[in-house]
Amino acid sequence: MKKVINPLSKELLNDLTCNDYLTLEELKPLLNTKFIGNSIYYFDTIDSTNTYAKSIGTKSNNGALVISEEQTVGRGRLGRSFMSPKHKGIWMSIILKPNINPKDAAKLTQVAAASVASAINELGIDTKVKWPNDILLNDKKLCGILTELSVSASNINYVIVGIGLNVNLAKDDFNEDIKDNATSLMIESGELWDRKRLLASILNHFEALYIKFTENNDFKASLDICIENSALIGQEILVINRDSIVKATALGIDEEGKLIVQYDNGTYEHLISGEVSIRKRDCLTKK
Ligand code: BTN
Repeated sequence: MKKVINPLSKELLNDLTCNDYLTLEELKPLLNTKFIGNSIYYFDTIDSTNTYAKSIGTKSNNGALVISEEQTVGRGRLGRSFMSPKHKGIWMSIILKPNINPKDAAKLTQVAAASVASAINELGIDTKVKWPNDILLNDKKLCGILTELSVSASNINYVIVGIGLNVNLAKDDFNEDIKDNATSLMIESGELWDRKRLLASILNHFEALYIKFTENNDFKASLDICIENSALIGQEILVINRDSIVKATALGIDEEGKLIVQYDNGTYEHLISGEVSIRKRDCLTKK
């Protein structure tokens, strides 16, 4: 899956990455899936694959994919923006129609996190899952997941699982404000990576874990991967809500996918992902 050894100039890097496409023709032979990727909506550029996926969510098939070579208004959790430069990463949304209780839809974020971590760890790169929706490499953000839900009369119309993975971005591709906290596979490994093989591997893992969860009631398979590779368990953290920042220690993840924390005052809580954001305390002192 590796392509070239660094060092590469930015110009050479752009030349190499701009001929790398994530089209249906490139991806189909690499997919071992039954339904994920049966329909692919492919764009050279788009505002946000999640926004487009929502616009076609009702009429789309289960497992349809929206993939773009770049996003101009990529979105993250809690109203944040997400950088998505052309041909440098995997920017995609999976449209899903699971037959599950809407209150369990957030678990799909962990199914996706487990799939991404498994696919990358198979390359010999040791990523960590930062509950609820990030994948870290060497303590920096490599991937973010944005899960959005449409419900009517307490039934799920569709769920969109958006995945943004920084594959071949150079340091200069990141804005100043995130440069120190974000990274790419290329920056950390010094090598260019084949996006289509990586994308196919993520989707192959995703479908297997998704079927376990939605058809066999086995969420544990995904959870075990998130726990085994957790960036937070055993760490001192800050739990950041809209109007408070509280010191705690992350103890584990329960069977519902909630983060178990013990606050410094001794009390315990099982956190749902909703509006909360987590920071490792040692990251604050490092900056
Ligand atoms: C986060 O970091 O808070 C989540 C980032 C999710 C980014 C992906 S990229 C593909 C999809 N389209 C979007 O606009 N966002 C998600």
